[in-house]
Amino acid sequence: MKRTRAQRLLELPSYPFARWSRQVEDVARRGVDVIRLDIGSPDLAPPEEVIQALAKSAGDPSHHGYGGYRGLPALREAMADYYRTRFGVGLDAEREVVPLIGSKEGIVNLALACLDPGDVVLVPDPGYAPYAIGAALVGAEVHRFPLVPEHGYLPELNAIPRQAAERAALLWLNYPNNPTGATAELEFFSQAVEYARRYNLLLCHDAPYCDVTYNGYVAPSLLQVAGSAEVAIEFNSLSKTYNMAGWRIGMAVGNADVLASLAQVKSNMDSGMFQAVQDAAVEALHMDRDWIAARNQAYQERLEVVLQGLQAAGIKARRPRAGLYVWAQIPGHVATLNHPEWNSERFALQLLEQTGVAVAPGSFFGLAGEGYMRFSITAPACEIQEAMERIVSFTELGRFSSG
Ligand SMILES: Cc1ncc(COP(=O)(O)O)c(C=O)c1O
Repeated sequence: MKRTRAQRLLELPSYPFARWSRQVEDVARRGVDVIRLDIGSPDLAPPEEVIQALAKSAGDPSHHGYGGYRGLPALREAMADYYRTRFGVGLDAEREVVPLIGSKEGIVNLALACLDPGDVVLVPDPGYAPYAIGAALVGAEVHRFPLVPEHGYLPELNAIPRQAAERAALLWLNYPNNPTGATAELEFFSQAVEYARRYNLLLCHDAPYCDVTYNGYVAPSLLQVAGSAEVAIEFNSLSKTYNMAGWRIGMAVGNADVLASLAQVKSNMDSGMFQAVQDAAVEALHMDRDWIAARNQAYQERLEVVLQGLQAAGIKARRPRAGLYVWAQIPGHVATLNHPEWNSERFALQLLEQTGVAVAPGSFFGLAGEGYMRFSITAPACEIQEAMERIVSFTELGRFSSG
């Protein structure tokens, strides 16, 4: 064989979670009782009505053909209805909504749709890896801007070097944020829209956690900013809102020209979604919001277990208003600044090997994530409780070594 791997794959940023997952599995194989708080895959079931809608649709013999390039009109309408009722945002279901096979698919395909080699993409650090991976796949250049606690993990857009901003074709934002748990208000989104206009770039907001919120917090959509659809699109997903991560269903909404390009890529790449999944998604999007509120209450209880455990362990963490994660400083946080050999991955590995608790090292989300770790609340409260007890004794006994 002349080739088994294209050059572009060699140039992709490494995906540390793949390596990490192998390490976690190795530890489990050695017989350690592993508790996984490192990944954010919802463990709770989707709504019962949605499962029934899936089964009913799958029982129809005419529903097994290709699902259609643009998705069922009823699905696009349901997505537009969701934006209208949830955010007060009106969308043209024909031109301003593209159903996706999970939002990750759309995030990466957007790079094929809108970027050329040499274009610059502005990406948050720490951040969700596919923003940079899409750019790398098409030979675009990534400029990372830092999210720091002093600014509530909101970027200082005016601190992005002017030269990078002028060359940039696209800016990524993500609130409620993975991994920091930070949230943004409409005022910030207005500034971001203003910035996108000033530099003539496409603003992409990724909002899969907008309906996983606590203590009455209501996350806004960037599209609530008047005129934002002239420069912006938003990605959304049923993965976290309805515990449907494995079903692979999301959406891109907003600027019609950008979405036409994305739809063009997709029509050459995939052949739509299974109709039963689309019918079930319509059911989910039309449900009243009590189910979401009850599910968020269950997450909130888990969140309290993590936060109390971290406090007992003397580990500094932010209380998130939304999302599935707690972003916490690793013990010896300051040492990470002075001793490069002490880092979040090393801490996470020691924690894993000595206690069986798996957390995500902050460095996996970018250089600015160094010194932190991310706890996910997608495990039952009793498992989280057990994990936190192990962490408390691990830190009490000083069983980790910071060099
Ligand atoms: C910030 C962010 N965006 C997008 C996704 C992808 O979600 P989906 O399941 O819709 O592909 C995730 C998944 O964890 C995420 O954390």
